[in-house]
Amino acid sequence: MTTEITAEELNTGRFINNKVEEIKHTVGDGLAINAISGGVDSSTVTLLGHRALGDRLKTVFIENGLMRSGEAEQVTGFFHDLGVRVEVVDAREAFFSALKGVTDPEAKREAITQTFYKEVFGRLIRESGAKHLLQGTILTDIDETVAGIKRQHNVFEQLGIDPQEAFGYRIIEPLIQLRKAGVRKVGQALGLPEELFTRIPFPGPALAARVIGEATPERIEAVRRATEVVERLLDGCGAFQYMAILHEDRVTGMREGQRDFGQQIEIRCWDSDDARKATPTRLPFDTLEQLGREIVAVVPGVVSVTYNIASKPPSTIEAV
Ligand code: XMP
Repeated sequence: MTTEITAEELNTGRFINNKVEEIKHTVGDGLAINAISGGVDSSTVTLLGHRALGDRLKTVFIENGLMRSGEAEQVTGFFHDLGVRVEVVDAREAFFSALKGVTDPEAKREAITQTFYKEVFGRLIRESGAKHLLQGTILTDIDETVAGIKRQHNVFEQLGIDPQEAFGYRIIEPLIQLRKAGVRKVGQALGLPEELFTRIPFPGPALAARVIGEATPERIEAVRRATEVVERLLDGCGAFQYMAILHEDRVTGMREGQRDFGQQIEIRCWDSDDARKATPTRLPFDTLEQLGREIVAVVPGVVSVTYNIASKPPSTIEAV
């Protein structure tokens, strides 16, 4: 059982010192590797790891083809300014071939997990000689995985999976006792720029969690364009998280006077404290209309844009 440290009781200075010592002790004089996605959890772990290990931590950005537009450049730029070198690893082919023909949500999550941990990290670990992978799993990731609601991409031990046996390396999870608000406090205390520690959450399976049905490069590109609109227009709205989802079902619409059996995008925008429960944000109707107009304009073939008005539960934040 992992003991929770709430954001209120968290003493960031003490937490950081303890975790830095733990990481140093676990890695010894060896090497470790970590992947950064640009989210607050992996960004915080990156700074914690570098504080503990310096150059003995190799930080990579896995370009899996499922990330938001400009993410690799943005993340490497941010960390360059913080003095951390981030190497971009092109793994697009591995992810899209693992996702080919996969439509079931849990099968998609499993394909992504195996590609990340077995194939991509497996190779990086072998090539670098590292024995440990440092990652930003938080308590919320574990809750839902253990409850059997959703297999989060980064949870193993709690499912009885030994990463050493399954993948050939050990995993270190310094943030496992925290939820999002606690991670933001630690990130801030470590010197992450506000733009990073206040970023809305983004899931490990990335845009594949936002495509219902098969995640092909074309369908990912469609949801990427819609995501760009949603994130731009809802930036600063104060919600916990917001997203665009590409549906599988098509609906009849019309374009240039002709029938068009087109695509549907769903927008979700959530108010939540810690992702365990969430309610739809009461966005102004003008904002919703603008979202609809811009998405139809930039995502080819979209004839329907909807706003989710159900709460979690029974919804979940991501649609996959
Ligand atoms: P759900 O969809 O389960 O999401 O209500 C709860 C929070 O977790 C994020 N999420 C993930 N984060 N790996 C992650 O690191 C995952 O596999 C994953 N799936 C969901 C989601 O964005 C939300 O903030």
